Amino acid sequence: MPQLVVVGSQSAGKSSVLETIVGRDFLPRGQGIVTRRPLVLQLIHTPVPFESSPNNLPYTEWAQFLHVDKRFTDFNEIRKEIEQETFRVAGQNKGVSKLPISLRIYSPDVLDLTLVDLPGLTKIPVGDQPSDIERQIRNLVVDYISNPNSVILSVSAANVDLANSESLKLARTVDPQGRRTIGILTKLDLMDAGTNALDILTGRVYSLKLGFIGVVNRSQQDINAEKSMKDALDSETEYFCNHPAYRNISHKNGTKYLAKTLNQVLLNHIREKLPDMKARLNTLMGQAQQELNSFGDAAVFGDKNQQGSLILRLMTQFARDFVSSIDGTNIDIS
Ligand code: GDP
Ligand code: NA
Ligand code: MG
Repeated sequence: MPQLVVVGSQSAGKSSVLETIVGRDFLPRGQGIVTRRPLVLQLIHTPVPFESSPNNLPYTEWAQFLHVDKRFTDFNEIRKEIEQETFRVAGQNKGVSKLPISLRIYSPDVLDLTLVDLPGLTKIPVGDQPSDIERQIRNLVVDYISNPNSVILSVSAANVDLANSESLKLARTVDPQGRRTIGILTKLDLMDAGTNALDILTGRVYSLKLGFIGVVNRSQQDINAEKSMKDALDSETEYFCNHPAYRNISHKNGTKYLAKTLNQVLLNHIREKLPDMKARLNTLMGQAQQELNSFGDAAVFGDKNQQGSLILRLMTQFARDFVSSIDGTNIDIS
């Protein structure tokens, strides 16, 4: 299955973008180096149990780390745990570790999806960082984005000239055709008065097949004041609709449009992989049939053949449902 990987210079807004995609406040963000270990975040769709409404179920949504056996239901606690676990392995003084933190979020409101937050690309060692920190972080990033199943979210800040974008440069080395790279332009609100990013957003500066999407995340002041995600999304919408340069392209920018686009990109990505998946499902079903056959007369409940075919039928149905749930069409798996 595909994964979304964010790449960009330090403090470009990578963690902020990931958070808004997930729709929850749970990632450490801020000036300087905050993300110091890869965070591999698996979103796992868990349906709300049939008879109960979400309201009388206390834990319809929870998170679980790989490194600690505990169910988290408070997203502020998740952030604290990420911070502590970062300090534990990467030290107190700006060190970076390539050992990932693995976090799963179970929720009825998410699609099955893996997202990866990464340390930002830097130039100069600070704190306890070794002299080759630039190369180390670059290698770490390349490890994740060279995976052909990675959709690259190349994050650049609008208040830095795009010609300096390290993330676009790196994305191009692993995805020269730009087939799985989306450009995200943050900090539009921080551009110099009298300048705007219209040329970048419309693809006239740097052309990317999947295009550039502008976003306005929460500023540090917003974070300090604990501005809610909903309020942030509302201000962002207002920003694009009222801005003289962006008014005409407001429907193609902002976090909501980004989420919609990502959805489409992921579906296309999965669709390309479907023939592969179909072959794998066939193999699995063949193996299951063989296994059933090998049970032979030990099957005591009813007619053996009937049982086998029931299980096969269920599996086939499951596979069909699965495929149609990801691309909205029915595909013949048989
Ligand atoms: P990362 O280092 O790339 O993960 O960046 P963060 O998400 O931690 O953000 C770094 C800082 O930039 C934080 O203080 C954010 O509040 C701020 N920031 C991120 N995006 C924007 C934006 O679109 N507008 C403004 N004003 N600030 C932003
Ligand atoms: Na930062
Ligand atoms: Mg970060």
